[in-house]
Amino acid sequence: MRVTTRQGWKWITGFVLFGLAAIVLAGFLFAWSGLYSVAASRGHWAVTNAALTFGMQNSVRTHALGIEAPPLDSEDLSTLGAAHFHSGCAFCHGAPGVPISPIAQSMLPSPPDLSTSMREWRDRELFWIVKNGLKYTGMPAWAAQQRDDEVWAVVAFLRRLPTLDAAAYRELALGGLTVPTQSGSEIATTEGTSEAVSACARCHGQNRRGPDSRLVPVLHGQPREFLMAALEEYAHARRPSGIMQPLASDLSPEDRERVAHYYAGLSPPVPPDLPLNPESVERGRLLATTGDTAARIPACTDCHGLSSLPVYPRLAGQHAPYIVNRLRLWKSGLTSRSSTDAIMAPIARRLTERQIEDVAAYFSSIRAAGKASR
Ligand code: HEC
Ligand code: HEC
Ligand code: HEC
Repeated sequence: MRVTTRQGWKWITGFVLFGLAAIVLAGFLFAWSGLYSVAASRGHWAVTNAALTFGMQNSVRTHALGIEAPPLDSEDLSTLGAAHFHSGCAFCHGAPGVPISPIAQSMLPSPPDLSTSMREWRDRELFWIVKNGLKYTGMPAWAAQQRDDEVWAVVAFLRRLPTLDAAAYRELALGGLTVPTQSGSEIATTEGTSEAVSACARCHGQNRRGPDSRLVPVLHGQPREFLMAALEEYAHARRPSGIMQPLASDLSPEDRERVAHYYAGLSPPVPPDLPLNPESVERGRLLATTGDTAARIPACTDCHGLSSLPVYPRLAGQHAPYIVNRLRLWKSGLTSRSSTDAIMAPIARRLTERQIEDVAAYFSSIRAAGKASR
């Protein structure tokens, strides 16, 4: 009796194995025959569509478990997210007043208009999608995987997107930039468009207008050498930023030189009037001008003062949130392959959270000198 049971199991196992091998072989033969059509023009069967969507949604939910969303209600965050959305996402997903490109519409699956027909996701799930992209759909991953802070800016904007009409979207994404109507010959012969996707001023401002988001650095009056070097580091992906890398890599070395020259020659923008804590500013001033010998922190103004070498960025008049963000990134271990990173990163890692806030308050409180005194 025992012998027959064992034999029965053997038969069943053999059968199952044979069945599996037959399925694998049939699958291989089907793929090999080329009968399956990979045409994006034909769409999926409804059942394939349902299975893919089901798998995708569950995968995103599971992988996003444990991600903690920071507060997303700051205007600085969503304004920066909007500006990036305009150059990095609207081509595929459209935006209020910006139609989805017909080329993107012909993708399979085609990207949805996120302002009207996004599936329901939690903040952490949106973060996961924007950071990692979606396999087999054409939805790209974030270009700089270390920059979670930038991805959160986009998530903050996606939360605001359904409430925006075309005018409000344009104001956010173009930063108040007015794009002149082009003549027929300009349309025919220049690459500029009414969407101004590659215009730096959307984020960095122009003339006496500074950046709308205080997470975007003020470039006005920065040394030309520093600006050119920073653009080169982005273009070669040595300084990680999913926002700046694509924009800088579109510029030729001559363009980088010209645009650096432009911003270097601008007078400092009108600073936003912000309430600052005078004690924090005073502690920041002491640290910035004399350093902290015990903690091996040099005086910041050795390198960031108005008469420092032109390869160093100026900090006077820089927005506090930008300064704080960059110092925190270094502290949290962000590694950049830029040549100047090795100078600044060790200093930033020695700063305490309070010192970071103090120096940021101090530098943002002093009016940047005009180009004449550089
Ligand atoms: C090359 C085109 C392309 C670009 C650029 C692109 N996406 Fe997508 N995106 C897609 C496609 C395709 C899908 C998948 C749609 C599906 O699964 O039905 C998608 C899906 C998504 C989803 C999930 C939508 C839903 O309803 O489930 C979100 C959110 C999203 N993208 C955000 C973004 C953001 C933010 C950016 C810019 C940082 C971006 N995408 C850039 C093509 C693109
Ligand atoms: C979508 C918004 C956006 C646009 C458009 C944009 N930038 Fe930026 N830029 C940023 C942000 C955000 C940073 C900070 C990135 C980082 O953390 O490294 C930055 C950083 C920079 C820096 C480094 C400055 C510093 O103090 O470290 C330079 C130089 C720069 N941008 C130049 C440009 C130029 C030139 C253009 C136009 C070709 C441009 N940017 C377009 C958002 C933008
Ligand atoms: C020995 C020179 C040196 C000293 C001293 C120094 N820095 Fe820097 N700092 C640099 C260099 C070089 C960079 C450019 C790094 C890069 O972007 O790769 C930089 C960049 C920065 C930036 C980013 C600015 C921007 O526009 O992107 C901040 C913020 C900063 N430093 C703060 C400080 C503070 C605060 C101190 C004082 C506690 C300090 N630094 C002391 C050399 C120095």
